Amino acid sequence: MSICYLNGQFVPREEARISPLDRGFLFGDGVYEVIPVYAGQPFRLGAHLERLGRSLEGIRLANPHTVAEWTSLIQRLIDAHPQWPEQALYLQITRGADVARTHAFPDVPPTVFMMTNALAVPSDEDFERGAAVISAADNRWLRCDLKTTALLANCLLRQLAVDEHCDETVLFRDDLLTEGAASNIFVVRDGVLHAPPKSTLILPGITYDVVFELARANSLPVEVGEITKDEVRSADELWMSSSTKEVMPITTFDGKTVGNGRAGPVARCMREWFIRARTEGAVS
Ligand code: PDD
Repeated sequence: MSICYLNGQFVPREEARISPLDRGFLFGDGVYEVIPVYAGQPFRLGAHLERLGRSLEGIRLANPHTVAEWTSLIQRLIDAHPQWPEQALYLQITRGADVARTHAFPDVPPTVFMMTNALAVPSDEDFERGAAVISAADNRWLRCDLKTTALLANCLLRQLAVDEHCDETVLFRDDLLTEGAASNIFVVRDGVLHAPPKSTLILPGITYDVVFELARANSLPVEVGEITKDEVRSADELWMSSSTKEVMPITTFDGKTVGNGRAGPVARCMREWFIRARTEGAVS
């Protein structure tokens, strides 16, 4: 049985109920986080909670909990599922349920929801095979730095990939790489790791930061800057990163093989460093 957290209570997931007037339901008016859990410990919890704070501020919603309160609630939810050493913990906060549907903010308490699921950590085989992606124009709004639950554009874009039997859609705005529908994207060229800069056009991924940290710690040259679609097409290696996929090589881009169609040498190094980081430094 799976337990979830809703507005101060831990309850079986199938018993949890919210109002149809919840603004998360009516307007997508909320923010969320997905936190990976390894060996029962949240990975980079501090960074996830900091980003949550920035998303809340961005949508002008007060943070309902202190870091200490979040930490304790999250650990309780993890501990309620000992059958899953690896979990993907989801939390969301919406602007709450009003008595009518009005666009302006109501003065009501927020809705706080958390659930957790088993995390299928990518295996060596998954990693070697890599992901197939297609490209599409990034037609999302201009505050993609906020992790909001208003994800219809991301869902439509991801479905384009699924319709083509692919795993992810890589997005371009005016021919420049932004990110994936639910991931950040990296390019390796001549032994240098490139990624687009953090801006309001991409989500500042926690895994993106881990990748740069590990690259710097291991003297892999990095360069942050604009990347054109041609540069993506002709990359030696392409990667995607997210809390649930970790660092995943992209082995097919718009139907064309990337490199030799398997995980590249730099990606293999990064995977090794990443696995060491998640084993050694689960909590931070
Ligand atoms: N998505 N960009 C977008 C648009 C994302 O949705 C995500 C993550 C990322 C990677 O961020 P992080 O490394 O912090 O997971 C980048 C999560 C996993 C999701 O929506 O399920």
